[in-house]
Amino acid sequence: MKKWFTEESYTTEAEKQALQQKYKDKDIIWNYVKLEIAITDYCNLACPNCSQAVPLIKNKQTMSLSHIKNIAKLTDGHFDIIKISGGEPTMHPQFREITESLHSMFPKAKGFEMATNGFKLLEYKDIIHNFDWICLSNYPGLNDKEYNEILKQNFPNVYPEEKIIERDLVDIKILPNIDKQNIFEHCSLKYIYKVTQDRLYPCCMLFAVSVMRTLDRTKVSTKLDEEWKINLFNLDKQTIEQYCRLCPYNINTSSYPVMITELDQGKVREIYPFHKGDIAKANYGIKQKET
Ligand SMILES: C[S@@+](CC[C@H](N)C(=O)[O-])C[C@H]1O[C@@H](n2cnc3c(N)ncnc32)[C@H](O)[C@@H]1O
Ligand code: SF4
Ligand code: SF4
Repeated sequence: MKKWFTEESYTTEAEKQALQQKYKDKDIIWNYVKLEIAITDYCNLACPNCSQAVPLIKNKQTMSLSHIKNIAKLTDGHFDIIKISGGEPTMHPQFREITESLHSMFPKAKGFEMATNGFKLLEYKDIIHNFDWICLSNYPGLNDKEYNEILKQNFPNVYPEEKIIERDLVDIKILPNIDKQNIFEHCSLKYIYKVTQDRLYPCCMLFAVSVMRTLDRTKVSTKLDEEWKINLFNLDKQTIEQYCRLCPYNINTSSYPVMITELDQGKVREIYPFHKGDIAKANYGIKQKET
């Protein structure tokens, strides 16, 4: 099985080399681009600060297996990592079939990831090896028992994400970017593209921002059809910027911009500018060497 290992960030060339040394037995995927797929908008929890605004989605939908296959057909090879999310992905009635088909649906992907609140994870313990990385979220007071039960099992691909309310949970009511400029250009979260319902968004928060602030989601997304690449890069940058001003993630616009290229030979590719003594924070994944 292909494996990617971790997510960390670095700022200088020396740090990059130190990380390369630390993970010397791994294949590193530098500056990967991820596609997150919200396979269902339904969830068994209603976290008050859900970053995906799930409790506020009025027209909740669940993707059919054929819709997911079509997403794969149209996008395979354009993204390095495929992340299955939601809503709560394990609530999908065909979660088993989807999980077992991921590798055949996306033969060119370098890694598979999922985020879950864990309520139903143990039901699927025989198939979760299909994911290289499972982010297990703990929302204090909401899923502590299930979270602790899963941790006891020591699954090698389950990575706990304890969310301390004051420290790690973004408050979706506040607007930290409202007076900033060039937010999209500086935001490293846009290395995660997202498909929700039938549309593709150039960042994993734009659908949620549309829901939270009751904005038109079609202005910052494109239909997923044969033309998606061209349409994605033709989206109006000024409109995206207006949505970024209303995003609850606090973006540092004083550092070096996180660049995004135009299409690179038909492949969606983000280039992070690295210079000496740098500046731009990059995300990278590490792919374990296949044995
Ligand atoms: C919206 S959840 C969907 C998947 C699943 N239901 C879950 O909660 O893990 C996707 C990711 O967003 C993170 N998340 C949700 N609300 C957040 C918040 N207010 N601040 C920071 N991260 C948040 C979760 O930990 C998870 O990694
Ligand atoms: S469990 Fe996840 S998707 Fe569900 S409401 Fe909480 S953060 Fe949102
Ligand atoms: S500021 Fe928010 S909406 Fe804008 S690119 Fe960053 S995460 Fe996405």
